[in-house]
Amino acid sequence: MSGLRIIGSGHHVPGRPYSNDDLARVMDTNDAWIRQRTGIRQRHFAPAGQGPADLALPAAQRALEAAGLGPSDIDYVLFSTMTPDHIFPGSAPLLASRLGMRTVPALDLRTQCAAMLYAFQVADSLLTAGAARRILIVGAEAHAGVMPWRDWDILEGTSDRRPSQEDWDRATRHRGWAIIFGDGAGALVVERSQQPGPGVLGVDIQADGRYAPLLCIPGGFREHPYVSESALASDAALIHMDGREVFKHAVTKLPKSIDALCQRTGTRADDIDWFIAHQANQRINEAVCHRLGVSIERMPSNIDRFGNTSGATIPILMDEMLRDGRLKSGQLVCLVALGAGFHWGSLLLRT
Ligand code: COA
Repeated sequence: MSGLRIIGSGHHVPGRPYSNDDLARVMDTNDAWIRQRTGIRQRHFAPAGQGPADLALPAAQRALEAAGLGPSDIDYVLFSTMTPDHIFPGSAPLLASRLGMRTVPALDLRTQCAAMLYAFQVADSLLTAGAARRILIVGAEAHAGVMPWRDWDILEGTSDRRPSQEDWDRATRHRGWAIIFGDGAGALVVERSQQPGPGVLGVDIQADGRYAPLLCIPGGFREHPYVSESALASDAALIHMDGREVFKHAVTKLPKSIDALCQRTGTRADDIDWFIAHQANQRINEAVCHRLGVSIERMPSNIDRFGNTSGATIPILMDEMLRDGRLKSGQLVCLVALGAGFHWGSLLLRT
């Protein structure tokens, strides 16, 4: 059966990396805690004025170049982000027009860190239905705007000031999530293969909105007006995350999903070459491997360099693996992720 095939990839991260020590200038945290609890050493942040479509542009250009294609060869754009350039419109049409694609359908997906599971399933369906021949899949995030500090100059190290006590306390209240996220973009070009072999072999995706309060930005259009002084003062525009609960759900739901997917597709976990997992916390991925009885070497990681780039983690990691030759055609790959919503699951792909 011929199916979805990845023919190009690219990624982009903005500016210089920010170390854990940099973060410790604006809140009460430290390098040892962050490394031990998450595996993160550094992350990148988009500068003010740059949104996910800006970050996605060089990533998409690299993916097109790797595929040996131009923008006019793409007939659909799927853009996953939870930090969109604007509240509306979505980031997909912005990226498409910046690439010079004038009227191509461009769809934003909102499944947060589980982005790529949904994007691959939608892309596969579009290709199978004949609605598209070549699709640009993008995951891009600019979390910098939601960070709980104001003193970027102190973080940058360009000012010797100390944050005010109020700013320090506020950032420290949010340190559980603020140390996790980073910015970046990953892009993949996929097409329907003419040869038998590659393709999406199975999908196990679930969603359960009862868990939305465990990881969300509570602000939104239920409020009148949707942005108000009181909403800002109560931090309704910041991320709210119950880290311990999210952790527990991830380490139980993800192995279950992989087990179900393996059963349904008649695959043994041992047959899978790579488990390409969302990079939320290295300890989550270690626990998932442990429960599956799979060596951590088969679940590659780059969280130490980029942190959690939400919808961008999987395409960034896939791009690195395609470029350094770890990910080759003919391999069996399992994508794994859990994110806000909750949305979670796994997807089996023959490359
Ligand atoms: N620096 C220093 N100390 C910190 C800290 C930080 N950045 N964040 C929390 N702490 C402290 C807490 O205040 C707490 O102190 P206490 O014991 O004195 O009360 C202690 O460390 C333990 O906090 P806890 O929240 O239990 O830590 P944890 O081991 O659960 O790690 C996370 C916190 C957020 C790293 C972890 O829960 C996690 O990764 N959860 C999953 C989140 C996730 O995957 N989100 C994205 C999904 S897409």
